[in-house]
Amino acid sequence: MTSFPRIRVFASVDELNDNVVDLFIDCARTSMAESGRFTVALAGGSTPQPVYARLATDPFKDQVDWSRVHLFWGDERYVPSDDEQSNYRMVREALMDRVPIPSDHVHRVRTEQALQDAARSYENEMRHLFPVELPRFDLILLGMGEDGHTASLFPHSMGLSESTRWFIANTIPGTNQERLTLTFPAINAARCVVVLVRGKSKADMVAAVLHGPQDLMEKPVQAVNPAEGELVWMLDEGAASKLSGEHSG
Ligand code: 6PG
Repeated sequence: MTSFPRIRVFASVDELNDNVVDLFIDCARTSMAESGRFTVALAGGSTPQPVYARLATDPFKDQVDWSRVHLFWGDERYVPSDDEQSNYRMVREALMDRVPIPSDHVHRVRTEQALQDAARSYENEMRHLFPVELPRFDLILLGMGEDGHTASLFPHSMGLSESTRWFIANTIPGTNQERLTLTFPAINAARCVVVLVRGKSKADMVAAVLHGPQDLMEKPVQAVNPAEGELVWMLDEGAASKLSGEHSG
């Protein structure tokens, strides 16, 4: 990892989630003031769900002009959008059903299409919003698995080496599970990337990623390094419990 990321550690999961909500709101306000819109790619999985749910509650939900938000997904499972494994369904239930985002601002991965078509049509939808050489999301929220993956960029997967496309299909090695994911060129073009990690079960990998040697095949999240953007790791004390040194909230 070339530029050292900012690491913020919070005493509790509630404090962690509150601070991610605050960052989301601040980033939305800044982006809207500068460009009139806020483009965000959301993480899937279980960690961010309470953040999305909190964003949809008072007083937070009235602090965002949802009419100017464009929601994308950093990755998606190749399942129907109403499947319990769907990241779209998770965000719809936690957030979208409870705030007034215009339907044409919700950029769902069309998993009803053939896999490669779904990836290409999603990238085309991104290119419509970002008609330039790279998609400069205002915010990308990522998680991390215990194996060091992020989005759906898994260790030793083909997607790790993608250097031109923005959004691709990627198979989880050792399984036949198909995923769809932003690529590192797309992630690293963002203005702000937040890696949100919670729980002691991830402490070893957090320490290996942040303080260990670089090994992008084994620890893909180490490749997250926005060229002209901010990288912030936001951890609870459990996830940070193997880190040396002091880190503020
Ligand atoms: C997904 C996510 C994935 C997730 C990590 C952590 O689709 O599952 O995008 O990258 O962030 O697997 O998942 P948890 O938050 O459930 O631990």
